Amino acid sequence: MRMRSQMEIDLSLLASNYESLKKIAPNNEVLFMVKADAYGHGMVPVTRFSHHELGIKEFGCASIGEALRLREEIPDGEFEIYVFSDVQLMLKQATEIYLNYRVIPVISNESNLDYFLETEEFKNFPLCLKFNTGMNRLGIDDSKAEEVIDKIKRNGRREVYHLLSHFSSASLPMDSNKKNLDQKKRFKELKQKFIDSGIELKKTSLSNSGAIEQGAGLDETHIRPGLMMFGPTSLIPKYREKSKWDGKLISSLETVIINSFDIQKGTPIGYGATPCPGNGAIAIIALGYGDGFSTRYQGVKLLHDGMEGQIAGRVNMDMAQVFFEKQKAEQLNIGDKFVVWDHSSENFMRICDQSRTIPYEVFIHVTQRVPKVYKI
Ligand SMILES: Cc1ncc(COP(=O)(O)O)c(C=O)c1O
Repeated sequence: MRMRSQMEIDLSLLASNYESLKKIAPNNEVLFMVKADAYGHGMVPVTRFSHHELGIKEFGCASIGEALRLREEIPDGEFEIYVFSDVQLMLKQATEIYLNYRVIPVISNESNLDYFLETEEFKNFPLCLKFNTGMNRLGIDDSKAEEVIDKIKRNGRREVYHLLSHFSSASLPMDSNKKNLDQKKRFKELKQKFIDSGIELKKTSLSNSGAIEQGAGLDETHIRPGLMMFGPTSLIPKYREKSKWDGKLISSLETVIINSFDIQKGTPIGYGATPCPGNGAIAIIALGYGDGFSTRYQGVKLLHDGMEGQIAGRVNMDMAQVFFEKQKAEQLNIGDKFVVWDHSSENFMRICDQSRTIPYEVFIHVTQRVPKVYKI
């Protein structure tokens, strides 16, 4: 465990992001995706706060294990949990968890649907159906809608509890990208088929962060934000001006300078002996890939005390070198705090863009060696 490197999570900023979300989507219920340890922010504290303080009543996990953890660690939580991808419906153990812990499996293929409908214990259990409208990953093909409707009716059901689909390209414009327009149309047609056949749709949802940021999918009862709740935009740089999102990064990542020295252009730095790109000073910071500070961050620019530095040479397991051109080592004191990202989404997105990765991955990379500290 690190002592002076930490990921600070400011839950009051989660609250302010939720407030901003409600401004974009005042009439939608929120199914907050907290899978993958709430995108690396700690699933239990994030869910507990979101439920008890913000009043969010529905949460999305990827696996049954995640869902079970939420139930066990927040036993007083009166919220719904959905399992989206690793459903394992046909395992007896999984069925028991769904039934005993009130966890809703998102049914995304026909064999799971058949099993669900044929299993007596699920008779009065909410049916949540995910359709494929063009993502081509999980989801029952929308061309099978009639067959599915037939099966559901034969099973004596007159209601789908939650009907949903998922965009493949929500980081692109929702109002002009062909794929997005097509998926919106296909979902609309799908819903109509259910309604025309007399099946009631209690809840519907289509939009994740990228779509919500653009105000799309708000005519459904629900939205399913994940990333935006933690601050960043999902839109690719070219289209960011289309985003209505002004989220604050709820986390900051801080470390400490553990060494500093002046350096001349061409001097080899660290493993691989990368030549230093200029004359200046180096700060060695206490974060490496063992902390989730990826080798991909080589070359990324970071600000420290108003000075622009750049990660130079290879990122090591336990540390990384930050080079400051034309600066002196005396400006980089051993023991000084070094902030990798603060609560500005823009600064954080710069790291993601420069390392050609996505915010999801940067958050999730942070390992357990870096303590998470919560602030309200
Ligand atoms: C089905 C589904 N809905 C919503 C989300 C949330 O996505 P985002 O984090 O982009 O908001 C995800 C995440 O991958 C998902 O798989």
